[in-house]
Amino acid sequence: MTKLALLFAVCVLAACAGQSAPAQAPAYDEKAVPAGAQGDLIRYGRELIVNTRAHMRGYVVANLDCAACHVAGGTKPKGGSFVGIYGQFPQWNARAHRVIALQDRLAECFLYSMNGKPPAYNSREMIALVAYIAYLSRGTPVGATPDPSVKLTEFAPPRRASVQRGSAIYAQQCSACHDAGGAGSAAFPPLWGPTSFNGGAGMHRLWRMAAFVRYNMPQNAPGSLTPQEAYDVSAFVLSHARPKFQGTRLVGFPERPAKYF
Ligand code: HEC
Ligand code: HEC
Repeated sequence: MTKLALLFAVCVLAACAGQSAPAQAPAYDEKAVPAGAQGDLIRYGRELIVNTRAHMRGYVVANLDCAACHVAGGTKPKGGSFVGIYGQFPQWNARAHRVIALQDRLAECFLYSMNGKPPAYNSREMIALVAYIAYLSRGTPVGATPDPSVKLTEFAPPRRASVQRGSAIYAQQCSACHDAGGAGSAAFPPLWGPTSFNGGAGMHRLWRMAAFVRYNMPQNAPGSLTPQEAYDVSAFVLSHARPKFQGTRLVGFPERPAKYF
C-alpha cells in the first residue's frame, strides 16, 4: 500500500506529468530530459549544436556553430529544424549516390557548412549529436513523410533574383549584424568570405538561402521580407567569394578504433 502510494506520488511529481501529448510538448525542455547517461548525452548533443566551436575546435574551420543555421538548437520550424528527422534515415542521397545514415548527413554539414571535418562515427560527439536528434524526434514514426511546414521548401519569386536590388536590402537590413563586408562579428555569423560555409553547403543554393532568410531573417524582424526580397538579398550574399570544398579533408572511418567488450 505505502509502496504503491509512493510510486504514484513519484509518477505524478516527475515523469507522468511531462509525458502527455508529445505533439504539444516543446521539442526540447531541459528539465524533461531523462536522467542518467542517456540524458547526459542528449544534453551534450544540444550543447554541441549551440556551442560547436567551443567544443570541437579541430573539426570546425568556419566561424559558425551549427545553431547559426539550425536556429534555437534545431527546434524552430523553417529554421533548420531537426524535429522528426531521425526516422527519415537511412535515406537516398542524390549527391552521394547512395543510401546514407544520419551520421553521414551530420558529416556532410561538418564538411560543407562548417568547412571542417566530421568526427569519427563512434566518437562521443557523433553519438551525442545522434542522441539529441533522436530525442527531438521522439513520437514521430519511422518513415513518416517529412512535414512541409517544418522543412525549408523551394518557392519561386515573381521576378528573377537581382544582386543589385539585393545589395540595397543588405545595406539596410543585414549589415548592422552581419557586417558590411559579410564577415559577421563575435556575436553574429559571417555570410561570405574565408570564415563562412564553403561552396558545397546546402545554404549555398539560392532557393535554400532564400527560404531560410524569408522565415528567419532579419533576426529582429523575421517574416518581414517579401519572397522577392528574400531572393534578391540571398543572390547578393551568394555573389561573393567563399571557401572551396577541399575533398582531402575527408577522413577514413572509423578515425578512432572501435572497442569491443
Ligand atoms: C551554414 C548553415 C549551416 C550550418 C552552419 C550547419 N548546417 Fe546543417 N543544414 C543546413 C541546411 C541548409 C540544411 C538542409 C535543410 C533542409 O533541407 O531543410 C542542413 C541539414 C542538416 C541535417 C539534415 C536535416 C534534414 O532535414 O534531413 C542535419 C542532421 C544537419 N544539417 C546537421 C548539422 C550539424 C550537426 C551542424 C554543425 C556541425 C550543422 N548542420 C551546421 C545548413 C547548415
Ligand atoms: C539583429 C541581427 C541580425 C540581422 C539584422 C540579420 N541577421 Fe542573419 N543572423 C543573425 C543571427 C544571430 C544568426 C544566427 C541564427 C539565429 O540565432 O537566429 C543569423 C543567421 C543568418 C544566416 C545563416 C548563418 C550564416 O552565417 O550563414 C543567414 C544566411 C543570414 N543570417 C542572413 C541574413 C540576411 C540576408 C539578413 C538581412 C535580410 C540578416 N541575416 C539580418 C542575426 C541577424
